[in-house]
Amino acid sequence: MTPSDYEYLRKLLKERSGLDLSADKQYLVESRLVPLARKSGLPGIPELAQKMKGGADALTAEVVEAMTTNETFFFRDKIPFDHLKETVIPALVQARAARRSLRIWCAASSTGQEPYSIAMLLKEAGPMLSGWRTEIVATDLSQAVLEKSKAGIFSQFEVQRGLPIQLLVKHFTQNGELWQLNADIRGMVQHRQLNLLQDFSHLGVFDIIFCRNVLIYFDQETKVGIFNRLSKMLEPDGVLALGAAESVVGITSVFKPYPERRGLYRPNLAPVTRVGASTLMPQTLRAVASAR
Ligand SMILES: C[S@@+](CC[C@H](N)C(=O)[O-])C[C@H]1O[C@@H](n2cnc3c(N)ncnc32)[C@H](O)[C@@H]1O
Repeated sequence: MTPSDYEYLRKLLKERSGLDLSADKQYLVESRLVPLARKSGLPGIPELAQKMKGGADALTAEVVEAMTTNETFFFRDKIPFDHLKETVIPALVQARAARRSLRIWCAASSTGQEPYSIAMLLKEAGPMLSGWRTEIVATDLSQAVLEKSKAGIFSQFEVQRGLPIQLLVKHFTQNGELWQLNADIRGMVQHRQLNLLQDFSHLGVFDIIFCRNVLIYFDQETKVGIFNRLSKMLEPDGVLALGAAESVVGITSVFKPYPERRGLYRPNLAPVTRVGASTLMPQTLRAVASAR
């Protein structure tokens, strides 16, 4: 790959997916794209780049997908899921007692372990949520991971990562070397392709947003823009969950850390609103949030 091929790919990936590759990541591009070039009947990356420049849109989409990192596992980092179970869901159940519905968005859901961990957690909440309408929306840039997620089929290796054995036995059906999530849990999750760089306001407002282990690949300016837009999608008392290596601190003030709940953040309402927040009607709080 020539330096100009690398620059072309770097620029294209930044524009299409937000991936911010430093100048020394040629090895990563080669390890992901040489197999793709060969599969497409091309000798190497220079020919791949040439074809993309000629307007091969489907190939370009494959290149963007091939460069995404899809690493994930059930109940990743455990602590945010414990907080969800012990603090966040009980508080929201109280706050939404009249409405009896919860909306949750997994904004980079990869092969499904994260949204399905949330689905199992809600299912295990038992009577607290019985009769409630719970919606889990799983989105990702990559159509390939979404297809795998929809099928809900996982290898022995995948179910051994983070998933408690009781949940495996209760919610999965074994088929040879593979395990499929039962239809009731699969049915709790809706899948949609969505690029976080593009407008996502059509998804509506959520009570909880998981946007974990994706912003680490983006530069500061892209993160700021996404945090701003995410803040408009969250209820004023909603919760944002980020990955263990991610934070809003030093990047944006539209969210603030949830006290003593590592990995969780809350909308940072304007000071005048914060003082009287508990006395404001929900529709007033929503109006304040949408004006942010
Ligand atoms: C490392 S995985 C994280 C999965 C899961 N959230 C977790 O923490 O286990 C990152 C995911 O972000 C997706 N992704 C990368 N760029 C994206 C973008 N611009 N918009 C939406 N998803 C993106 C990738 O396809 C990948 O599935």
